[in-house]
Amino acid sequence: MRIPFVAGNWKMNTTVSEAEKIVIEMLEKLDRIEEVEKVLCPPFVSLVSIHMMLHDSSVKLGAQNMYFETKGAYTGEISPLMLRELCEFVILGHSERRWYFGETDEIVNKKIKAALSNNLKPILCVGERLEENEAGKTEEVINRQVTEALNGIEPVSNLVIAYEPVWAIGTGKAASGEQAVATIRFIRAVVAKIWDESIALDVRILYGGSVTSTNIAEFISYPEIDGALVGGASLKADEFVSIVEQTAKIKKRIK
Ligand code: PGA
Repeated sequence: MRIPFVAGNWKMNTTVSEAEKIVIEMLEKLDRIEEVEKVLCPPFVSLVSIHMMLHDSSVKLGAQNMYFETKGAYTGEISPLMLRELCEFVILGHSERRWYFGETDEIVNKKIKAALSNNLKPILCVGERLEENEAGKTEEVINRQVTEALNGIEPVSNLVIAYEPVWAIGTGKAASGEQAVATIRFIRAVVAKIWDESIALDVRILYGGSVTSTNIAEFISYPEIDGALVGGASLKADEFVSIVEQTAKIKKRIK
């Protein structure tokens, strides 16, 4: 039984006080929704304060990135040791990290290893670019990203994978439910091939890319889609709460 999962990725938005304000606006309502694992991923500088605000609530905290070394002379980087006092989750391999900051599959693999060996649960992001999609290379790209990310890693069921087609992120042009579920089924098959069928059935796989309160139902109505990684819409308290509420309601119905 996979517990539905919704995470908000705030990206490089919100100052500390803005982040606190959003948490105040949504916390009580989110906390009441029991059937979904809820995770907020604010910028690094807000983690300490939001960690304290979430204390005693069912809402969990995640970071948006991390370095793969635990400490040392890596100016400006944040290590798994620092994060694990504050967070349960860490987003790794987000397409903005891959394309703007040159993160390769090999780096993503090192980060996943470092997260797991430091008791952080990775949210691994994979997704094809528009030209790859149009050239019919979606499965090839996804297969490579998942296989290389998990290279040399022992099977773990506490991995979350987010399928985020790059062309759908921040564009307002979400994939269709049908497109998303096809790739998500493929991702689960790749995980089954690398590890095994039963672990693959435990790993939660999300859709991400222009998810809103208007289109969330289209995705989570498929039993194979375990939730969503939400960017822009997670910065609006009402929107995010509605996305989580709908996820709880629909998943309960189709269980
Ligand atoms: P978006 O971002 O919802 O703003 O498209 C999703 C993501 O990048 O995780």
